[in-house]
Amino acid sequence: MSRKLNVYLCGEKTGVLFEDDLLQLTFQYDDNASPLSVRLPVRSEIYPHAAAYPFFENLTPEGDIFEILTKDHVSGNNVFSILNRFGGDCAGAVALYEITPDNNGENITEISSKKIAQIIDRLPQDPLLTSIEKPPRLSLAGAQSKFAVYKSGGKYYRSSDVNPTTHIIKITNKRFPDLLENELFCMKLAKAILSNVPEIELLEAEGRPYLEITRYDRYVNNNKFREGGTVQRIHQEDFCQALGIVSNKKYQTGGGAKLKDCYRIINEFSENRLSDIIRLTEWIIFNYLIGNTDAHAKNLSLLHNDSGVKLAPFYDLLSTEVYPEKTIDHEMAMLINGKGKYSSLTPKDFIALFENLEQNATNMMKTIKDRFAGFVPAAEKIRKNMPTPDMPIYKKIIAIIKKRFYVLFG
Ligand SMILES: Nc1ncnc2c1ncn2[C@@H]1O[C@H](COP(=O)(O)OP(=O)(O)O)[C@@H](O)[C@H]1O
Ligand SMILES: [Mg+2]
Repeated sequence: MSRKLNVYLCGEKTGVLFEDDLLQLTFQYDDNASPLSVRLPVRSEIYPHAAAYPFFENLTPEGDIFEILTKDHVSGNNVFSILNRFGGDCAGAVALYEITPDNNGENITEISSKKIAQIIDRLPQDPLLTSIEKPPRLSLAGAQSKFAVYKSGGKYYRSSDVNPTTHIIKITNKRFPDLLENELFCMKLAKAILSNVPEIELLEAEGRPYLEITRYDRYVNNNKFREGGTVQRIHQEDFCQALGIVSNKKYQTGGGAKLKDCYRIINEFSENRLSDIIRLTEWIIFNYLIGNTDAHAKNLSLLHNDSGVKLAPFYDLLSTEVYPEKTIDHEMAMLINGKGKYSSLTPKDFIALFENLEQNATNMMKTIKDRFAGFVPAAEKIRKNMPTPDMPIYKKIIAIIKKRFYVLFG
């Protein structure tokens, strides 16, 4: 039997997602709707599966988490079913409901530190927390175990359909025990050098460490949520959505997105075209310097606002090259001048990349050199301010940074 879900954007109904008897997904905008994606401009004709599916598929979790969810909890078209069950609070301003939620009489429940610890313990086996009482209808992309909460006055609260989350919580990974410190360090370094990077802190609940990352796609109206202010959503879409490709195509080697495609999106759609081209280039250089081979098209997003779209703040920055090649792929997500290994790159490859992107390579090199001038001392300073500055992970990342910095800038 065919099914449908109402699609909301910033709390306003914008259209309907249909699943037909062949499990194909189609999408139709309402009159006077706002666009979900640069790829899906508002129009009266229905968007067929080929156009609608990539946008909605990219809202769901990936990898092992997707497998667990589809195995245990849903049937039919997996994407539709996951969104039906968990699509109340997605990345950006999208929310999907079968029936519009009732805004009245909702209780805001605090989540204690003990509860956070319990959630952290359960999350690896139960990624969307279906075993806890009233699980959140939350769906975030990515392969890491994570959940999200509403935070106010230093306390966490349960999110719900009408009270979206404000912070992402990422937990430790058994395979890479120092992953949280790695992301903490790289994000703080990015914030120091590139700005426009969300706040991130390493905290703990009953001895369980976790990262608390402020969502840049939310803001609290008048900053007084508990006194009547409300959390507002800001729309975002990742570059797989903007390119109309499914999440499996986030790596160039799998036939997916290339850097040239990302520049094309900025060129075509950004309201800050010139500064976003520079920001995108800085993102590439930053990932090179820290050895982040996982800089793929889902780790880059566009923010939508009333006047247009622009490159979102950067997220999910960490060094993958600190881990041995047998445990994590050292092949770059998107190639530079046809090369797939950071270790094989020379300044000439970056110049060739800029020329290929029709940039003035000399000017771009100068811009980058100025931007990253204080990079190595900044890395040392940030390491000293880490909760455990002598952890080997920081020294390993800084060793990569120094080596790469020398290759690129001499
Ligand atoms: N600070 C943030 N604010 C808003 N959305 C975010 C933020 N960080 C990540 N996201 C969204 O959540 C998704 C998953 O986060 P990410 O850090 O990439 O997790 P993973 O490590 O599992 O890939 C991202 O693809 C992005 O859409
Ligand atoms: Mg990610």
